[in-house]
Amino acid sequence: MRMKMYLSLALGLLSIILCINAKCDLTGQWQNDLGSNMTVYVDKNGLIVGKYQTAVSTTNETILESPLVGYQQSSGLPTFGFTVMWQFTNVITVFTGQCFRNETGQVLQTTWLLREESSDAKHNWMQTRVGFNVFYQIP
Ligand SMILES: *[C@@H]1O[C@H](CO)[C@@H](O)[C@H](O)[C@H]1NC(C)=O
Ligand SMILES: *[C@@H]1O[C@H](CO)[C@@H](O)[C@H](O)[C@H]1NC(C)=O
Ligand SMILES: *[C@@H]1O[C@H](CO)[C@@H](O)[C@H](O)[C@H]1NC(C)=O
Repeated sequence: MRMKMYLSLALGLLSIILCINAKCDLTGQWQNDLGSNMTVYVDKNGLIVGKYQTAVSTTNETILESPLVGYQQSSGLPTFGFTVMWQFTNVITVFTGQCFRNETGQVLQTTWLLREESSDAKHNWMQTRVGFNVFYQIP
């Protein structure tokens, strides 16, 4: 009888621990389906800071590591948004997405808008691109 009580207590504790661990968090290292890497840190207020090393570029400039900043919500599968300030071109990219869990780890499903600079307003209409990328956590 007592054994049974201890067992259910232990199982209860275990499920609480697993539940805490099951919370998605952007803190860590990520690689997306294009081979781009990012390192992210999220503070207790949900503020995201990190750096982004892209594998692809719309310019021929030498690619440089670039800073990113944004926010993550605090739910179990949080939504987030961040901006990358490219260091090698006058381009800004904003990402938005959500953190999910699969069998082995965390996955970020993202949508982004990339804004290129135009020398005149006539070309404004064609300066924004949209894309979708999946990020996998690097252990
Ligand atoms: C991303 O990281 C991997 C593993 O460290 C590395 O092999 C790859 O070259 C990196 N990609 C870029 C674009 O730097
Ligand atoms: C990059 O270089 C290639 C080959 O020189 C050229 O065809 C292309 O137009 C250049 N792209 C940009 C965005 O300057
Ligand atoms: C699950 O997520 C992990 C970590 O992001 C990743 O390495 C793995 O490839 C993913 N598995 C599938 C089936 O997508």
